[in-house]
Amino acid sequence: MIPSELKHELQRRIASAITNREAAVDVMKALQAHYGWLSDEAVLEAAGLLGLSPLQVEELATFYEMIYRRPVGQQVIHVCDSISCWAMGGASLMDCVAELLGIRPGETTADGLFTLLPCCCLGNCGQAPTLMIGDRIHGKVTAESVAAFLAELRQSTALINLVVTTENLI
Ligand code: FES
Repeated sequence: MIPSELKHELQRRIASAITNREAAVDVMKALQAHYGWLSDEAVLEAAGLLGLSPLQVEELATFYEMIYRRPVGQQVIHVCDSISCWAMGGASLMDCVAELLGIRPGETTADGLFTLLPCCCLGNCGQAPTLMIGDRIHGKVTAESVAAFLAELRQSTALINLVVTTENLI
């Protein structure tokens, strides 16, 4: 269930949008950030807030590839598979990330830290090949640089998890 503070914030954003539909992606992303993914319950909540039918929200959710209708890891890695990145080695970048994580595209690591997904152009074609981790875009990615990102990310995510666990114990 949406915390009342988040609900009021979303109602405020919807009220300031020209149409409720315009606010739909914003609402879905906020609910996704809260739940970790856009569950069926979250679709119903989004529909209720937006005054749209659950089917209309579902249509929008499945159109945007950054909206996750299945559980994902704490960090989602999107590897661009559009033309510029493909021409600059995007396919081997995907293979490289998959091998480093020990999963295939579409899967989540057993520790729940990473999900690997292909995606359409990230608008960073001049820096191909490109991938996005969370909200951060990385260009001109090489096998070496991606190995370094992942090691860094594993460490920082493990640290965040440790802090959250410790806070819950206090
Ligand atoms: S083709 Fe990959 S960022 Fe545009």
